[in-house]
Amino acid sequence: MAPLTAATIAPAQCVRGRLRVPGDKSISHRYALLASLADGRSRLRGYAPGADCRSTLSCVARLGVDVVEDTTAIFLMGRGLGQLRSTPAALDAGNSGTTMRLMAGILAGHSFSTTLVGDESLSRRPMRRVIAPLERMGARIDAVDGHAPLTVHGARLHAIAHAPDIPSAQIKSAVLLAGLVAEGTTTVTEAVQTRDHTERALEAFGVQVARRDRAVAVAGGQRLSAVDLDIPGDFSSAAFWLVAAAAFPGSRVEIEGVGLNPTRTALLDVLRRFGARVQVELADTRAGEPVGTVSVESDRTAAIVISPAEVPAVIDELPAIAALAAAGASVSVAGAAELRVKESDRIAVLVKGFRGLGFVADERRDGFTVSPPADGISGGNADAHGDHRMAMAFAVAALAGRSPSTITGADAVAISYPSFFETLDRLVTPHDRRGAR
Ligand code: S3P
Repeated sequence: MAPLTAATIAPAQCVRGRLRVPGDKSISHRYALLASLADGRSRLRGYAPGADCRSTLSCVARLGVDVVEDTTAIFLMGRGLGQLRSTPAALDAGNSGTTMRLMAGILAGHSFSTTLVGDESLSRRPMRRVIAPLERMGARIDAVDGHAPLTVHGARLHAIAHAPDIPSAQIKSAVLLAGLVAEGTTTVTEAVQTRDHTERALEAFGVQVARRDRAVAVAGGQRLSAVDLDIPGDFSSAAFWLVAAAAFPGSRVEIEGVGLNPTRTALLDVLRRFGARVQVELADTRAGEPVGTVSVESDRTAAIVISPAEVPAVIDELPAIAALAAAGASVSVAGAAELRVKESDRIAVLVKGFRGLGFVADERRDGFTVSPPADGISGGNADAHGDHRMAMAFAVAALAGRSPSTITGADAVAISYPSFFETLDRLVTPHDRRGAR
């Protein structure tokens, strides 16, 4: 199929249906990386289908890990702790910040040099946040003014105690992964909790992780055992349908097999505040990750304010949350300057895109406000600027337009949710089938 560069979104009445979403991107990266360091062959089912997690697989394959895939699973033959093989070729992390930052943590403890490159977007994203602690542990990392390409000169590492000044699971994970081969016990203490998939994944691979309050510690030298694991559905992909269900009257969406890790599900509280009916049913815990069914049904609507303290828990959901404005309520976010260094400048791109669709939108240094104009949402054009979550947020918001809208750069959904537009078609009840709104 030719790449979908622009998508046309027709006005919709509501979204309804039961579905599963693709495997969790954050968890997939971590399982693939840890499987590469483990002893023995791991089997991962439900591995995230998007390009980001493919980048991680191609990086580990270049480092000597045998990666085999059949229709049911991905199999990785682990090389053992500290046993990745050097490669003269640069490793391409593509669009994936998680691949680049976590890989830097792993390579820091391998006694060879490796270059990590990324696409244009990734090459603009800040890397000092991982370079500084990894250098404190003993590695040397060349960068271009704090940006990729990075050349990681691995070394014998020593443990550090690190307190990142930015809430970031990627920083925490890079340091803990380096800590696996460091001499001593590496500790990361966070001011604000970020997603804890690395901690849970390390335990699933047999590593002892000490967690107290906001501190996580790993002792170096612990070997990892291969796993046979199912990866839950990605809550951040589910978020777009949950928001759509909350925003459009008459909607109900039920998502099965989705990850319910509490460090990822704060959107559910936002949707309750908004006035939606939200139900959560925990089915299982797999490798320390809770999994279950979430359903959201539209009911009332209220203005939403996201405060700075809340931001880390909904950082990837903020573009979707902005689309709640489709329901006629205003959405305001503060303390989210980190959005400016995601796959795109998500404050600038979001405000421009929502305006293009006919919303009223204002940009601030560390946030934004989006609301519908008094005379309703016209529909129009929005450019995703190569950012998968912006493409999906615009698509949901565009459902509220009076006229069809065009999302430019819609093919970016391939990063995390390649089947997003097919699913959208299936869930949406077009406007004209149920009469005028
Ligand atoms: C991720 C952590 C978050 C998130 C990103 C994935 C991860 O980034 O935005 O999409 O898998 O660790 P930061 O940790 O930099 O905030």
